[in-house]
Amino acid sequence: MGMFIVIEGIDGAGKSTQARLLAKWFEDRGYEVVLTKEPTDTAFGKLIRKLVLTGGKEGIIDGARISHEAEALLFAADRAEHVAKLIRPSLEACKVVISDRYFYSSLAYQWARGLDLEWLIDLNRFAIRPDLVILLDLPVKESMKRLRSRSIKSEFDKIVELQKRVRENYLKLAERFPEMKIVNALASVEDIHRDIVALVEHELLGK
Ligand code: TYD
Repeated sequence: MGMFIVIEGIDGAGKSTQARLLAKWFEDRGYEVVLTKEPTDTAFGKLIRKLVLTGGKEGIIDGARISHEAEALLFAADRAEHVAKLIRPSLEACKVVISDRYFYSSLAYQWARGLDLEWLIDLNRFAIRPDLVILLDLPVKESMKRLRSRSIKSEFDKIVELQKRVRENYLKLAERFPEMKIVNALASVEDIHRDIVALVEHELLGK
């Protein structure tokens, strides 16, 4: 089996930058790496972008803002495909899989929407547990500053209060899931990368 690493955090925490840097770090050491993300770029991910993230006008739920439960189910469906078609086969082929977001996003965000945490955990029971989850943690004030420069914003990152709940949820989840390790995302890109590499070496490579 390969290695499965997930990067989590609120919007604007720097996940995609760090996922890319970590992928390169592994590649430079001769590993075969699959860099991926959720929501995915498959039909399910596109549906999510249409129905959930932009409040789109087409699709199965014609124009309406969908219920929180339907939202959670769509993210879970996208993930089920992600696991079956990409994550599991890549791990079986001994590759390093790095995912920008995974089921911890569903727990943190959909719980913040008011859904029951235990139901969300049950719903995502099919999802392979990663070997390591890096939680990039920073105050919402800082993440909002970074997001201002982004052109496309999801429904979520406009709502500071929700982001605050999401951050708190992530920190609570880190107490429950031992594979989650918190990294201070206020530091420079280089320092954060160094912290992540140190965790990978310590937790996964036995250094
Ligand atoms: P994001 O990582 O911002 O994707 P992109 O930059 O490609 O648009 O994710 C979009 C939003 O979806 C983000 O605010 C978090 C949210 N989300 C959930 O609410 N639940 C989930 O299970 C996932 C994967 C994401």
